[in-house]
Amino acid sequence: MLLTREEMTFDFQGAKLDPVRDRELLEWMLNQFLYGEVTGIQVGHWLYDAPDMEAAKFLARQSLEEMQHVDNFLRIMTMLNCQPKPAHPAVRFLATGMMGGSWAEHVALEMAQGEGFVLQAFYAVIDTLDHKPSVDILRRAVKQEERHVEFGETQTRKAIEGRPWLRRRLLGLSLVSMWGVSRLAGYMKKRLPADHVVLKHLPAFLEHANRCAELRLQRIGVLDRPLAEIGGAKRAALVAEAYGGKALGGLGSLLTFPLRILPFWPKKKRLTDTYLRDVHVTGYALPAGEPPAVHTEA
Ligand SMILES: [Fe+2]
Ligand SMILES: [Fe+2]
Repeated sequence: MLLTREEMTFDFQGAKLDPVRDRELLEWMLNQFLYGEVTGIQVGHWLYDAPDMEAAKFLARQSLEEMQHVDNFLRIMTMLNCQPKPAHPAVRFLATGMMGGSWAEHVALEMAQGEGFVLQAFYAVIDTLDHKPSVDILRRAVKQEERHVEFGETQTRKAIEGRPWLRRRLLGLSLVSMWGVSRLAGYMKKRLPADHVVLKHLPAFLEHANRCAELRLQRIGVLDRPLAEIGGAKRAALVAEAYGGKALGGLGSLLTFPLRILPFWPKKKRLTDTYLRDVHVTGYALPAGEPPAVHTEA
């Protein structure tokens, strides 16, 4: 990977998430991760689009790993007495509604940047969650996520070689997602309980995540100077250029998304719509020998 674990680590100053006190918060968080892992089914789409044998083999293995990650979260949720519930609509939109439109967009935005962002969230959970069996599961899974991010970085580098227009386009699209993260940080600053030991760090954590995203773009070669040196007008031009070809499609999916998540909207149901009713999820039981669940009624 182009960024080290140390560079991606945020200092929570020893603050811990408690499996009993923070059960509701953990349940919410784990459900967002669970949905994210189910969107691993989209790897199938990109496998069909793989540019060479090496990429195809990588994606075939990745799809298997993401399905195993679904089980990881089901195990962690069962141990922490958390119920599988729907993910937040914004998360569903970001992970499904904004799927990349080309191979380059997929590897740059979903794998290098998107999975890079999720990896950073996993590191944060590993560093703060006070429940060793869950942390051990996550520690093993992040090794695979690191390889997914690395693949995204290498493939993005290959894709932009000799194509300055594509580099600019990916930069414009990346700027939008970074802007989204900073908006989220601003929103959280106002809404989050300022006295919770871990949550009070979240806005600073998100700012750190954006700094890492910027560093990654520089090291891949998508960004050729610090963002601070690119003025507001230039940034707006990059975003406009990137969305020029995408505007109608993107706007269309943005406008119809609230409708498309309603049950009567006619569309093909995929696992990302039905997983909560799937017997694999509803009937999930811990493998034999697994440590007993954390008891919340103490
Ligand atoms: Fe995963
Ligand atoms: Fe992944």
